[in-house]
Amino acid sequence: MSLPSTMQALQLSNYSGLDALILTETPMPQPGHNDVLVKILATTANPSDLHFMKGEYGFTKPLPVVPGFEGCGLVVAAGEGAESLQGQRVACFAAQDKDGTWAEYMVTGANNCFPLQDHVTDEQGTTMLVNPFTAIALLNLAQEAGAKAVVQTAAAGQVGRMVQRLCNDRAISCVNIVRREEQVTLLKGDGAPYVLNSSEDGFFDTLRQTCRELKVSYAFDAVGGRMTGMLLEAIRRGGTVNVYGVLSGKPASLNGGQLIFGDKTVTGFWLSRWFARQERSTALDVSNQVQELLDDTLQSAIQGYYTLATALDGLRTYEDNMTAGKVIIQPAVTTG
Ligand SMILES: NC(=O)c1ccc[n+]([C@@H]2O[C@H](COP(=O)([O-])OP(=O)(O)OC[C@H]3O[C@@H](n4cnc5c(N)ncnc54)[C@H](OP(=O)(O)O)[C@@H]3O)[C@@H](O)[C@H]2O)c1
Repeated sequence: MSLPSTMQALQLSNYSGLDALILTETPMPQPGHNDVLVKILATTANPSDLHFMKGEYGFTKPLPVVPGFEGCGLVVAAGEGAESLQGQRVACFAAQDKDGTWAEYMVTGANNCFPLQDHVTDEQGTTMLVNPFTAIALLNLAQEAGAKAVVQTAAAGQVGRMVQRLCNDRAISCVNIVRREEQVTLLKGDGAPYVLNSSEDGFFDTLRQTCRELKVSYAFDAVGGRMTGMLLEAIRRGGTVNVYGVLSGKPASLNGGQLIFGDKTVTGFWLSRWFARQERSTALDVSNQVQELLDDTLQSAIQGYYTLATALDGLRTYEDNMTAGKVIIQPAVTTG
C-alpha cells in the first residue's frame, strides 16, 4: 500500500488545554524497530487526555505534540520485529515518547497493540483499553485484598458503570457515589442498588452508615480532595482507599488517625504501571476477556461522532458533560 507523505493531526502547541489544539498537516511518521504504523479508524477522549493537555498528567511530551492516549485502527506498516501485526485491526495505546491517536496515522510500539476480534466495532475498539482494563484491574485488586463490598466515587462515569456491572457479575456489593440527582437516576436505571449523592445534606453520615451495614473494606476514588478522607473514614478497619483519579484537581485531605489507629491504607493505581508489570500473554488474555464483554458489562456510552475537523466541538461537548458518554473521532471520515 502506498502511503501519503503527510497527514492531518490535532496538535497541541502548549499545555493550556483545548484552546491550544489546532488541526494541522504534519509529516507521516515512520515505524522504527518493534513499532507499527496504525491508520486510525476511531479514537476517543478520557479525563487523562484532558489532564494531559493541561500539563496535569503524570508526564508531559515535547511540544508540539498530538494528544490522544487510545484508539483503534489498521496496521498499515510494521517495523522490524513487528511484522506479525501487519494488516491487523487493533486497539492501541499511544507510546509515552511519541505522538498520540488524534491523527490520521500514529506510530506506536507493537506491545501497545491488541488485535481485535471481528465482532468488535471500531468504536468499541477505541474504548476497550483504558477504562475496561482499569475496571477489571481495580476490582481484582479489591478481591485480592479480600473485599466482599466496595465503594466508588465518580460512579456515573464509564469506569464507574463498568465497575458496578462487574460487581453484579461477581456478586460484590458496590456503593456508588455521584454528585448530581440525574446521575442517581441513571445508575438506578442501570440496576445499581446503592447510589449516594455527595451534594445532598447528610451525605457523609449516610455514606458511613451504608458502608458499615455492607462491611465495605475497599474504596476506588477518582475524585480526591475531601472525598478521599471521607472514604477512608467510612470503610472498615484495615481497609484500603485506592486513588486512581483526581477529577476534583484537589490534593487529598485525610485524617492520619485513620491510618494509625484504623490500620487503613491509601494507595494508588495507574494503568500504565499495571501494563508494565504484566507479561504480554496476560495482557492479551485480558484483552480477549474484555472483547467478549464489550456489548454489555464493559460497554461505554457514546454521546457523539466527529471528524478531525469537528473534533474540537466534540471534545468541548465531552468536557462539559462527561456523564453523557465518550465522543468518537473518526479521522478517516472527512464529511459530516
Ligand atoms: N489511573 C488510571 O490508570 C486510570 C485509568 C482509567 C481511568 N482513570 C480515571 O477514572 C476516572 C473516570 O474516568 P472515566 O473515563 O470513567 O470518566 P468519564 O466517563 O469521562 O466520566 C467522568 C465522571 O466523573 C464525574 N466527575 C467529573 N468531575 C468530578 C468531580 N470533581 N467530582 C465528582 N465527580 C466528577 C463526571 O460527572 P459530571 O458529568 O457531573 O462532570 C462523570 O460522571 C477519571 O478520573 C480517570 O482519570 C484512571
